[in-house]
Amino acid sequence: MAATRDDRPDVVFITSEMFPFSKTGGLADVLGALPTTLAARGLRVAVMTPMYGRMKADEFAPRLVSSDCHVGYPWPPITAEVYYTEYRGVDVYFIGRDEYFDRRSYYNTYKGDYFDNCERFNFFCRACVSWLKQMGHSPRVVNANDWQSALVCVYLNYLRRTDPFFADTKTVMSIHNLAFQGRFSERLFWESGLPSEFWSVDGCEFYGDFNMLKAGITSADYITTVSPSYAEEILTPRFGCGLEGILSKRADSLRGILNGSDYQIWDPRKDTYLPSCYSTERMTGKMWCKKKLLREYYLSDMLEDRPVLGFIGRLRQQKGIDLLLDILPQLMNLNVGVVVLGEGNLETEARLLELMEDYQGQLAAIIGYTEELAHRIQAGCDIFLMPSRYEPCGLTQMYALRYGTPPVATAVGGLRDTIAPYPSDYATGFTFAEPEPNLFLQAVREAVEVWENREAWAEIVHRAMTQDFSWDRSAEGYLELYRDMGALS
Ligand code: ADP
Ligand code: GLC
Repeated sequence: MAATRDDRPDVVFITSEMFPFSKTGGLADVLGALPTTLAARGLRVAVMTPMYGRMKADEFAPRLVSSDCHVGYPWPPITAEVYYTEYRGVDVYFIGRDEYFDRRSYYNTYKGDYFDNCERFNFFCRACVSWLKQMGHSPRVVNANDWQSALVCVYLNYLRRTDPFFADTKTVMSIHNLAFQGRFSERLFWESGLPSEFWSVDGCEFYGDFNMLKAGITSADYITTVSPSYAEEILTPRFGCGLEGILSKRADSLRGILNGSDYQIWDPRKDTYLPSCYSTERMTGKMWCKKKLLREYYLSDMLEDRPVLGFIGRLRQQKGIDLLLDILPQLMNLNVGVVVLGEGNLETEARLLELMEDYQGQLAAIIGYTEELAHRIQAGCDIFLMPSRYEPCGLTQMYALRYGTPPVATAVGGLRDTIAPYPSDYATGFTFAEPEPNLFLQAVREAVEVWENREAWAEIVHRAMTQDFSWDRSAEGYLELYRDMGALS
């Protein structure tokens, strides 16, 4: 389907991260792929995202298109800069103001969140709305993502009633992770310039605090999250992070649309980060990737004949890194190798480095954030570990499938929706019911046993690599939603 072409954008995505311009996790990957897939379908698509400092110097160097985007109350004289670049058929607008966005990281320092995150992202949202208006064409749909852009839904909810320009712009609030809500003190609500009508339990108020994600959830026309299973889970106290009540009230306007995997970037047949590419027909390249990985991280040559287990992710409770640390001694007894790439909790980082000394030649821990290495670990390992406590969707397991590295994962959220568990004729990986160390260990043991049976393993690998989680299918889910909302024909 192609929407009718006039000057109105069909969809404008608002996001605090977009690959390849900025990234701390899966949100960036999604916003690097979904808009471009929709654009390839003939839609007119734009993305608005902050102009973080380092982008000015990097290879994309977006060009300045406005230095006086007026943001208005509560900062009358304050303006935003707007930069522009085109990326894979999508218009990308970067909202700049150095005092807010030219920092060493996006949201926090190692000591905690930036003290002015509320002001920074309120500014960002206001600037997005102002720029939409200054561009002169109201979008059919504005799709916000996570708490950092949630206030856009609130402003549009209000403006639709007061400014004919936005009268028929629909809003979607996409939740990528309910645990991050943008929760601040009540005082900051009153300083934000949001209309007072939004200060209520059916608006921004959450146990006396100002909750930006809740504001988006209560103000948007429609709410999405990133997998069908997570869409069900967040209606329960276990996964709802306190918002299960308000989400249940809006259950009729909530949809789980599974994320996709960007095979232009994550494909072992053409991945330029790999020492050697490979495909289901020619798997020798994968062995070469493994050898190189072992050598590069001083892992024992003996591991060429034993499975190597990989973990890539934020070193946080969500990802169950503590479960991995719990079972590490037993894993070492299985004579397997383990490669961990991540950053996050400082104690966990330190513990991993200590353990690397204890298990020399068998454990490699790389603390940091390296896009290239993430690709090489996916390719060089045999088994991918994902013992998440909850997982809205998860992209790394989808990448692992395509790289022939069957995952061992908790059966939660998007992991449940993307991995067909062993034993079955369709198995693509291994899952365990609850995030508990003994269940995790049992599942890894099972995977290692199957790995030892080369034929059985080859079948699982082949099936994993031929799964199709391309964005085309996921984008269809968003198109259907926009049509159901009456925003697109
Ligand atoms: P989440 O968004 O919850 O962190 P996802 O699985 O959806 O989890 O996406 C994580 C993304 O971030 C993947 O692209 C993964 O490769 C990447 N990633 C996570 N940690 C690192 C790291 N330390 N270095 C490089 N890439 C990382
Ligand atoms: C979040 C979730 C992750 C999801 C990603 C992209 O960071 O934790 O599960 O894949 O967003 O939607």
